[in-house]
Formats: sequence, structure tokens, C-alpha cells
Amino acid sequence: MLALNLPLADTQIFACGSQTLLTGLYKAAAEITLSHNKNLRDNIIVVNFGHASPDFNFDNKQALDSKKHAAQHTVYLRARQRQFDSSTTLLNAAEDAGIRLAHGCRQGICQLCRCNKVSGVVKNIHTGKMSSDGYESIQTCINIAMTDVVLDI
Ligand code: FES
Repeated sequence: MLALNLPLADTQIFACGSQTLLTGLYKAAAEITLSHNKNLRDNIIVVNFGHASPDFNFDNKQALDSKKHAAQHTVYLRARQRQFDSSTTLLNAAEDAGIRLAHGCRQGICQLCRCNKVSGVVKNIHTGKMSSDGYESIQTCINIAMTDVVLDI
């Protein structure tokens, strides 16, 4: 076993890989508490080298099928009074339109992209589950618009 003598509080962990790998990393890091009530989990930076993004995860046939069959719909950002067309994940579509939304891992793990949907139906590309048409919390990195959607952003 190799033991690294690192100052963990100052250590940043750059991670890229499958959802299983990242979930395991988050769980392991969550067990390490640092000084000042910080947690090693806070030091994880998820990056997407190559095919780590859900849209390009060739192991996830469901994600590809969802994207292939997704028609283009309009997403309205109520608070910002902006809108964009979307046929991919809400996060990617916003960025394609030059709109920056809060995000972290882009893989449905960190929850930093979570926001409230006011109306419209979205589909989770990891589970294939369709949302209701009403108000609910969603993650923009793993949901695609199945109808026109209004977000409380
Ligand atoms: S960006 Fe991490 S869950 Fe969406």
C-alpha cells in the first residue's frame, strides 16, 4: 500500500471517469474531514476529458437514444428573461446559446446544476424517467426538454 503524505486541505483532486468511479470517489472523500469543518469532498473538481460528458457517453445507449429522438424545444429562463432552443441537455443547450448556468460535474452527481422547473416536461437521460409537467427541482446537466420548458432561473 502506498501512503501519500499530502497536505489534504490544500489538495485539489481532479477527477474524470464513469459515474460509478466518481460516485465512489465522492463517497470516499466524504469520509475525510479537514480542518475548519471542511470536507475533502469539497476539493474534488470533476473535469470532462474526452467522452466523460453524458452527451458523449457511448456506453449509455439510453442517453444517445434520448438525444437522437429529442425534438427541439424552447427553454425560457424566467428570472433572466432569456430563452434558447434545446435538443440536448438543458445545460449544454444553454451554453450553446452563450448562456452560462451553474454547474459542476456535468454528470448528475454534484447537484450544483439543480434548479426549479416551473413548467414543461423533461427527461432524465440517466434513468429515462419523464418529469411531470409542473413545478419541481431538476438537474440541468442530465435532463433534456421534451416540451417547451420554463425554468426559475
Ligand atoms: S452539474 Fe453536477 S449534477 Fe449537474
